[in-house]
Amino acid sequence: MRLMLRVACCGLLLAAAALIRGVPFAAAEDACIDCHKALREERLSRPAFKIKDDYHLVRGLSCHNCHGGDPTALDNKAQSHSPAKGFVGKPKRQAIPESCGRCHSDPVYMRTFNPSIRTDQVKEYYTSAHGKRLREGDQKVAVCISCHDVHAIRAVKDQMAWTHPIKVAETCGRCHGDAEYMKAYKIPTDQFEKYKQSIHYEMLTKRGDLASPTCSSCHGSHGAAPPGIDSVANICSHCHVATVELFAKSAHKPAFAELGMPACVTCHGNHDVTKPSDAMLAGGEGTPCATCHEANSVPLKKAAELRTMVEGLSSRIDQAAAVLTKAERAGMEVGQPRFELIAAKESLIKARAETHSLQVEKIKTATDSGLIVAQKSLESGQDLLAELQFRRKGLAVSMLVIGAVLVGLFFKIREVDRRRGPG
Ligand code: HEC
Ligand code: HEC
Ligand code: HEC
Ligand code: HEC
Ligand code: HEC
Ligand code: HEC
Ligand code: HEC
Ligand code: HEC
Ligand code: HEC
Repeated sequence: MRLMLRVACCGLLLAAAALIRGVPFAAAEDACIDCHKALREERLSRPAFKIKDDYHLVRGLSCHNCHGGDPTALDNKAQSHSPAKGFVGKPKRQAIPESCGRCHSDPVYMRTFNPSIRTDQVKEYYTSAHGKRLREGDQKVAVCISCHDVHAIRAVKDQMAWTHPIKVAETCGRCHGDAEYMKAYKIPTDQFEKYKQSIHYEMLTKRGDLASPTCSSCHGSHGAAPPGIDSVANICSHCHVATVELFAKSAHKPAFAELGMPACVTCHGNHDVTKPSDAMLAGGEGTPCATCHEANSVPLKKAAELRTMVEGLSSRIDQAAAVLTKAERAGMEVGQPRFELIAAKESLIKARAETHSLQVEKIKTATDSGLIVAQKSLESGQDLLAELQFRRKGLAVSMLVIGAVLVGLFFKIREVDRRRGPG
């Protein structure tokens, strides 16, 4: 009885230890892992060491689930590798999508693990430039393991996964940023470099804004484009919905369509989208406007007018903020006018977005209401500074009075002393 209890306890402890490491019990007895760990050739032993980081192992799957064979035949390669036990060995590169798809395209099987996992990766993959070219026999395009790694395939939410949003650009950049690797193709290899200069990269990697796009947000991870997008050229609309609506009201909408130019990318670029400035509105040399509008043309005169309005509000806000800061440094309470200034900043944001509509009246409405608020904040700040000035003057006057009294007292005392005479 005692012995049985002890055995049961040991079993429980072992099970707990295995659970903590996230390793299924069978793994310790896995002939494939055991033998492969001991093999000299690095190509053969590496998978057995890497596999500890693989999500498949966490979910109770192991070598034989992908390669076939018998994992219970300890120290017996012939039996482990037996074709009768379904051993298929190393899949050819061209066959990799199908080998992953054996499970990942099977909704009935996959849903026993995860009811909400998608099972369209392989189908989608063959619609992408990668999949199409793989079918044609191109071995250099990305297959599943180029983006997910192999033998250390991590869950996509895992921060260390090659497919984690922060890591994706590096994953794609390994091929697309390598001019030597991509030599045979007639496409640029600057996407990663340019993307690293973009506001999207900054928001994603430096400010942790996961809503900001990386390569796969715009190009799709498996398909030719993300779901719901007909062409990558229209991808910006996916996220910048409000701007798209404003652009749709503009004279540019039909004009760009007629010229066959994509809406947002024509002015902002695709990989190196930077923070735009009011100066870009002016349409001079070096701005995207110059491609279509001549200097001094009517549209550019109108654009200059827009710039003046937006910059007018922007500089009034800066002025008000500077005065408030000065007052605050001098110890005045500026909470209220600071708070009010936020409304002016919101008007500025609205006006800048509204420039996409090219509708002068709308933009003017936004800048005018902003100007009223900014002016009020500016005046509040100036009043505070004036009050400070007044208080300082008051202080100076009272100091003068006190000084005069003290001097008067001094002379009075001396006079009294002198009258008493030396005594
Ligand atoms: C007793 C040792 C041993 C066991 C057990 C074993 N292997 Fe191997 N495996 C080898 C050796 C040695 C090679 C090198 C190629 C060869 O000799 O067939 C190899 C090669 C492989 C390859 C590469 C084949 C290629 O085409 O390059 C794969 C994949 C593989 N094993 C998977 C497995 C799986 C899966 C299991 C368990 C079901 C397993 N092995 C069990 C020793 C073993
Ligand atoms: C999720 C599926 C999957 C699992 C699990 C898996 N493999 Fe593999 N394995 C592959 C694929 C795909 C390749 C082909 C890699 C390539 O083309 O570079 C491969 C390649 C190999 C190779 C050949 C390596 C080379 O560079 O030639 C060996 C050996 C191997 N696997 C052994 C194992 C062992 C041992 C395990 C368990 C520890 C294991 N695999 C688990 C999918 C898997
Ligand atoms: C060009 C890179 C790339 C290739 C090739 C690729 N994937 Fe992915 N995959 C990703 C990225 C990035 C994510 C995470 C973001 C997402 O879900 O779109 C992902 C997500 C996944 C997921 C998580 C569920 C899901 O769909 O979101 C699975 C499963 C998956 N991929 C399997 C595969 C399989 C199987 C293949 C081969 C047919 C493959 N992937 C090819 C980049 C790639
Ligand atoms: C034997 C069946 C099987 C094979 C073969 C297989 N997988 Fe999986 N895979 C699974 C299961 C089951 C899960 C766990 C799903 C879950 O719990 O979300 C999974 C999970 C994943 C995930 C993580 C998904 C997520 O939600 O984060 C990725 C990525 C993935 N597999 C890629 C691959 C790739 C790439 C291959 C081919 C090299 C492959 N798988 C081969 C069964 C398989
Ligand atoms: C294993 C290397 C490799 C990886 C990793 C890779 N690609 Fe590719 N990709 C290629 C090759 C090779 C081509 C074919 C180029 C061609 O047809 O001009 C290609 C083609 C493309 C194309 C079509 C280009 C065109 O207009 O012809 C796009 C878009 C693309 N990849 C995006 C991505 C994205 C996004 C990622 C990461 C999520 C990625 N790729 C990861 C190798 C890779
Ligand atoms: C904000 C969206 C966006 C992001 C992020 C993005 N792309 Fe693009 N990419 C585009 C658009 C739009 C095009 C032009 C497509 C067209 O004209 O059909 C393009 C074109 C491409 C092409 C075709 C060749 C070229 O340069 O014109 C490749 C390859 C490519 N991108 C790869 C990448 C890679 C790799 C990353 C990440 C480092 C990336 N892209 C990030 C939107 C994006
Ligand atoms: C996946 C969603 C997504 C896609 C796709 C996307 N963006 Fe963005 N974009 C963001 C986020 C998030 C920010 C940072 C927050 C903000 O300022 O709105 C941002 C910022 C910007 C900014 C700077 C805004 C500012 O206030 O300074 C511009 C300009 C921009 N994107 C243009 C584009 C263009 C052009 C495209 C298409 C080539 C595009 N975006 C595609 C999400 C996206
Ligand atoms: C792809 C070509 C193209 C680009 C790039 C372009 N425009 Fe235009 N724009 C047009 C066309 C075509 C029209 C309509 C015909 C006209 O008035 O000349 C137009 C009209 C305008 C109008 C007049 C709208 C109206 O209601 O009268 C303004 C203002 C304007 N553009 C400003 C700009 C500014 C500022 C830029 C750069 C930030 C720019 N455009 C970039 C093609 C372009
Ligand atoms: C005719 C050129 C042009 C086109 C087309 C264009 N933009 Fe802009 N965009 C600008 C200019 C100029 C600014 C800077 C306005 C300012 O700061 O005064 C700007 C600013 C922005 C901003 C930052 C300000 C804001 O609105 O929050 C975003 C985001 C943006 N654009 C997104 C887009 C998107 C998305 C599209 C496609 C629907 C697009 N743009 C089309 C010229 C353009």
